Amino acid sequence: MGVQLLLDKISVKDIQLYDVYRAEGGYSSVEKALKLKPEDIVEEVKKSGLRGRGGAGFPTGMKWSFIAKPSGVPRHLVCNADESEPGTFKDRFLMEKIPHLLIEGLIVSSFALGSNTTYIYIRGEYAWIVDILEQAISEAEQHGWLGKNILGTGFDCNIYVQRGAGAYICGEETALIESLEGKRGNPRIKPPFPAVEGLWRRPTVVNNVETIAAVVPIINIGAEAYSKIGVGRSTGTKLISACGNINKPGVYEIDMTISVEDFVYSKDYCGGIKNNKKLKACIPGGSSVPILPANLLFNTADGKTRYMNYESLSEGGFATGSMLGSGGFIVLDEDQCIVKHTYTLARFYRHESCGQCSPCREGTGWMEKILLKFLNGEGRHNDIDLLWEIQSKIEGNTICPLGDAAAWPVAAAIRHFRHEFEQKIKI
Ligand SMILES: Cc1cc2nc3c(=O)[nH]c(=O)nc-3n(C[C@H](O)[C@H](O)[C@H](O)COP(=O)(O)O)c2cc1C
Ligand code: SF4
Repeated sequence: MGVQLLLDKISVKDIQLYDVYRAEGGYSSVEKALKLKPEDIVEEVKKSGLRGRGGAGFPTGMKWSFIAKPSGVPRHLVCNADESEPGTFKDRFLMEKIPHLLIEGLIVSSFALGSNTTYIYIRGEYAWIVDILEQAISEAEQHGWLGKNILGTGFDCNIYVQRGAGAYICGEETALIESLEGKRGNPRIKPPFPAVEGLWRRPTVVNNVETIAAVVPIINIGAEAYSKIGVGRSTGTKLISACGNINKPGVYEIDMTISVEDFVYSKDYCGGIKNNKKLKACIPGGSSVPILPANLLFNTADGKTRYMNYESLSEGGFATGSMLGSGGFIVLDEDQCIVKHTYTLARFYRHESCGQCSPCREGTGWMEKILLKFLNGEGRHNDIDLLWEIQSKIEGNTICPLGDAAAWPVAAAIRHFRHEFEQKIKI
């Protein structure tokens, strides 16, 4: 096991309870941070190299520095706990097992951003975690970490938990903001970006659960020490939720220096492929990112070892690489049918499209129908080209990246597994 910064206390009995968490050193980052100037915390997060853990990997400190500060206008931090990307369940694990880590990170981050009212927007299906978070918030309030004049610094902060109603699109930050405002979760056209006009048209930062939690160790060990963990622009640790045909599905914290092969076969992580089957393919970063066949998963196209980090997983672009994304690592063994699997994903994206833009609204439905034709033995050779054409017309032509997320799995399946589509052609 590599360095553990987020899950290091996970095996401590009752760590979800305030007293235990505090006895283990919890909330010390708040004591430290509230003695600093907010801009110094932003600078520290910048120096740490932390990148957003929600999927896109945008540098967190830079995002924080973009927040507008018009005088007299409140600013907001919103924590994205929607976690609806198939294959991704790391935020659930973190919130359920060590909720105070998120609350601690939110207090420090709210102070850095000047947010007196901070929200956690959580997917509706995580109903039981709402209770866990509300319990943690209430304990933090009772001990003076939240509320008015925190630690006598004059900083006030309240955190509210808002449940979504089960729409994948509400994980997209502007749809999330609309939903939080009580409206249908339709993504907004950007610009304006949330940092300028977000929740209630006020400057807003939306960050993923894991991103916010990572602020705690950054303050505790310092940005310099944090930036030395990992490699290149993949600093710190990353939570990976591993699932599919592996012996040990679960949530693992990695320091991004481990090779993909070791991650799959090491007994500390996935523990190898179930029933000693052969590995066929893997979607390394949540359902939206391109699938990689086994031969491109462990090594790049030019023969270099592939590692579990942002740069290495994306090496080769989409032609021969993929993305670290949200860290939802889905492993497929030799028995899995890529066409069926791609159909399942296409069906999901069609269902979740909000319908605002025609390439996404119509294209996702067409892709689903064509994929179903293949499964029913009714696919034709020109359907493969048609499928390719449709996905290419969606990508980059929509209001939000759900369109891309729907197009990429189809493109990668055709790129790497065209023969499986051809094998299904009977007419
Ligand atoms: C369709 C769609 C769904 C998304 N779902 C999530 C999600 O469940 N959780 C999340 O943190 N980010 C999600 N994102 C990314 C957010 O829009 C946003 O980039 C992220 O919350 C920013 O946080 P970060 O910088 O800490 O990663 C989604 C994006 C899209 C396009
Ligand atoms: S890309 Fe799809 S989900 Fe996103 S705004 Fe357009 S129709 Fe809605």
